[in-house]
This record gives sequence, C-alpha cells and structure tokens, in this order.
Amino acid sequence: MTERFTKAAARNIFYGGSLFFFAAFVSLTAASHKYVVTTGTDAQGLTDSVARGKHVWEKHSCINCHSILGEGAYFAPELGNVWVRYGGDKDPQGARDALAAWFAAQPSGIEGRRQMPQFHLSDQEVSDLADFFAWTSRINTQNWPPKVSG
Ligand code: HEC
Repeated sequence: MTERFTKAAARNIFYGGSLFFFAAFVSLTAASHKYVVTTGTDAQGLTDSVARGKHVWEKHSCINCHSILGEGAYFAPELGNVWVRYGGDKDPQGARDALAAWFAAQPSGIEGRRQMPQFHLSDQEVSDLADFFAWTSRINTQNWPPKVSG
C-alpha cells in the first residue's frame, strides 16, 4: 500500500475532495436560498412599507436591545413574534393601535423595569414598523421560538 500511494494519488485525492465538497457547498447554498425565497418567507407580501419599516428598525438600532428571530441583543423582548403576541393575526388594527400606544408611552418610568427610550416616531414610521413586524411574523421559523413569549 505505502509504495502504491504516490504523490499523484495524494494530489488527486486533495483536488477531487476539494472539488466534491465545494460542489456540495454550492448546491446546499443554492437549495437554502431557494427555500428562503419560495417557502420560508412571504416574498409577495414584501411591500414598500415593510422595507420602510425595516429601515426605521435599523435607523434606531432597535436591535441593540431587542432580538428579532433570535438575532440581536437580549436586553429586551424578542420581537419576531410581537405581532402575534399583540393579536395582529386576528385583529390587525387592534395590534397597530397597541403598538402605537406602546411607543408613545415609553419610557414607562416604572421602577425596577427595564426602560425603552422614547424615539418620537411619526405615525408613518409606526405604521411601517407594524407592517414590518406583521411581515416578519409570517416568516416560517419552523416553530421557533418554542414559547410565544420569545
Ligand atoms: C435601550 C434599549 C431599547 C431600544 C433601543 C429599543 N427598545 Fe423596545 N423595549 C425595550 C425594553 C426594555 C422593553 C420592555 C419594557 C417593559 O417590558 O416594560 C421593550 C419593549 C418593546 C416592545 C414591546 C414588546 C412586548 O412584548 O410587549 C416593542 C414592540 C418594542 N420594544 C419595539 C422597539 C422598537 C421598534 C425599537 C426601535 C425603534 C425599540 N423597541 C428599541 C428596550 C429597548
């Protein structure tokens, strides 16, 4: 065996192995991308207001305190499912009003409770954020988080 295992054989195993795993990597990446675009997310519902809502989310760095679908900071509640927690899947207008009221009431000043700053969001920004949260709640997360409280 030892005298048969030549330099050429070693090189072929190296190149063949690299090529094989590179091809596997590319096809898994393509498969994941296809799943995200066609199954995992609501591509049709991705409206301008959803995109604007995401910009509001980024502009104010909400992620510095909150997580969204698990990404972000763990100072404040997970917001990937906040739309459902506010009942938006059953009563969208009620959830929009509740979100607007929440933003307007911050900081709560309740002692012993973590505080969220006042961002002075316009009605348009609040509405766009609501659309962004509604859209995010429709992402197929395969039942994550396991508890509705995030
Ligand atoms: C400095 C940290 C901080 C930042 C930045 C922040 N939040 Fe919060 N947020 C909090 C905390 C803390 C709470 C929970 C407060 C409580 O329960 O009294 C909260 C609660 C919320 C809730 C209610 C969640 C629930 O389950 O009831 C929403 C909605 C929310 N934040 C949205 C946002 C949005 C949108 C932004 C960006 C514009 C943002 N937050 C930025 C700290 C923050």
